[in-house]
Amino acid sequence: MIADAPSGWVARWTAQLGAGISALDLACGSGRHARLLAGRGCRVTAVDRDPAAAQALVNEPNVEFVHADLEADPWPLAKRTFDAIVVTNYLHRPLFTALKRALAPGGLLVYETFAAGNAAFGRPSNPDYLLRPRELLDAFGADMRLLAFEDGFTTQPKPAMVQRIAARNGDVAAVLAAEKCHL
Ligand SMILES: C[S@@+](CC[C@H](N)C(=O)[O-])C[C@H]1O[C@@H](n2cnc3c(N)ncnc32)[C@H](O)[C@@H]1O
Repeated sequence: MIADAPSGWVARWTAQLGAGISALDLACGSGRHARLLAGRGCRVTAVDRDPAAAQALVNEPNVEFVHADLEADPWPLAKRTFDAIVVTNYLHRPLFTALKRALAPGGLLVYETFAAGNAAFGRPSNPDYLLRPRELLDAFGADMRLLAFEDGFTTQPKPAMVQRIAARNGDVAAVLAAEKCHL
């Protein structure tokens, strides 16, 4: 498991989220982002297949833990939508469509994971787990409102190739409405 400090990218793009909104932390691991979001007053759903993840979040009052294998089980959040979705250091491409469907109108997607070239710095090195150049942009940028995208080398929290996106679901009207109520 990686360091427990929240990702700077996630901290930055979720800083304005208002209290009471619904947020999903997909493949939450130790729950560093579930805790961050709960600390901001969000009602958080955290999903992971690792029972240790549930254990790590057991004392978090605003976090609902859903135990599921996201690659073997059916999508565990059928018909549910979220005002914000965070995914970090996890990649299973077949979930991209489910993630888009799970975003409420105006909802915020913050995604960050390792990218092509990371093999030079360690794991993950398997291309299945490394984003291709522009992949998040192509997957989410086209039919969402792009807030920010980065793709390159970082030294924090360790040397790595990383790709990141922040985007909102919907047209300008939906995004403006969401911004006004701090989604
Ligand atoms: C590298 S950790 C990242 C955890 C967290 N997102 C973070 O950045 O701190 C990857 C997480 O994905 C979870 N994971 C991997 N495959 C999964 C699957 N098929 N279904 C659900 N969770 C999975 C692992 O259990 C692990 O907690």
